[in-house]
Amino acid sequence: MRAIQIARHGGPEVLSVREVPQPTPGAGEVLIRTVASSLNPVDWKTRAWEVGPELPATLGWDLAGVVTAATHPGYRPGDQVIAMSAQIATGRGTWAEQVALPARLLAAAPTTLPLADAAALPLAGVSALQALNRAAITGGDHVLITGAAGAVGGIAVQLARHIGATVDALVSRPEHLYAARELGAEHVWHAPVDLPRRTYTAVLDTAGIDAGPALAPGGRYVSVADHPLPDIPGAAKSYVQEDQDHLAQLVALVDRGELRLRIAHRYRFDEVRSAHDRFEAGGVLGKILLTF
Ligand SMILES: NC(=O)c1ccc[n+]([C@@H]2O[C@H](COP(=O)([O-])OP(=O)(O)OC[C@H]3O[C@@H](n4cnc5c(N)ncnc54)[C@H](OP(=O)(O)O)[C@@H]3O)[C@@H](O)[C@H]2O)c1
Repeated sequence: MRAIQIARHGGPEVLSVREVPQPTPGAGEVLIRTVASSLNPVDWKTRAWEVGPELPATLGWDLAGVVTAATHPGYRPGDQVIAMSAQIATGRGTWAEQVALPARLLAAAPTTLPLADAAALPLAGVSALQALNRAAITGGDHVLITGAAGAVGGIAVQLARHIGATVDALVSRPEHLYAARELGAEHVWHAPVDLPRRTYTAVLDTAGIDAGPALAPGGRYVSVADHPLPDIPGAAKSYVQEDQDHLAQLVALVDRGELRLRIAHRYRFDEVRSAHDRFEAGGVLGKILLTF
């Protein structure tokens, strides 16, 4: 079978489609025929930076596919599933025609979407949900979400609105203002801007900026970005964890029409270099899918 691997770190040219042995599912694992994955910033960072498992490595965190074999009683061939695989920590990349994953990582795919589109959900969705949990967002909050047109930010806006919070948003460019409004943000700014000062009971930063001055005294500040945290008491980073229950919670929201996934571009997996070029150029509104 074929997988997208890197044998060294570098630009998109280090991405290669290679013949690799088909995985054999171990105890409690499920073999999945990949239908689609998506691009996340961690993928280009793993490709470009000296991070991640030993090389050669298969990249990819998101998976939407069909079960072909299972040693776990909860899954049968033909089941449509999605998963998030923490590729950096475990080396289990999803950019392969067949992927073996522990059953504890899987959730039933949404039934209201084409299966491929569900690959837009796992990493971005679970990251957004866990970051909002970390910030202990409630319906009484006035939340600022930065990077709100992006994958994590766009889902976070919807989830925070679903909880009942009032959400304002910062996006990178004027042409993205409408996107954050459509997702439920009330006041939306584009960078660069002087944000309202000492206003928000919670800030979720997905853009890697210092939004500290916008936080009200005693507010909660959570970031998923790589950048250093501002010097605010209690400011915290949220690092996404594999979590089947969180994934299932997100699927339920999608199927109830309460969470919308946005797909910007679709590339075949052997066009992965072009997909990386597009992603790194920025300004993408929605996810970039890789179809298998
Ligand atoms: N800690 C974790 O567990 C975790 C989990 C998931 C993601 N992340 C990180 O979180 C970040 C966001 O991930 P993502 O998947 O949402 O990426 P994304 O889809 O690329 O979204 C990032 C968004 O931020 C926007 N942006 C950039 N600079 C901005 C600025 N100064 N002001 C406002 N918006 C700005 C980008 O706009 P342009 O495209 O126009 O630049 C883009 O819309 C990445 O750094 C990713 O690595 C961390």
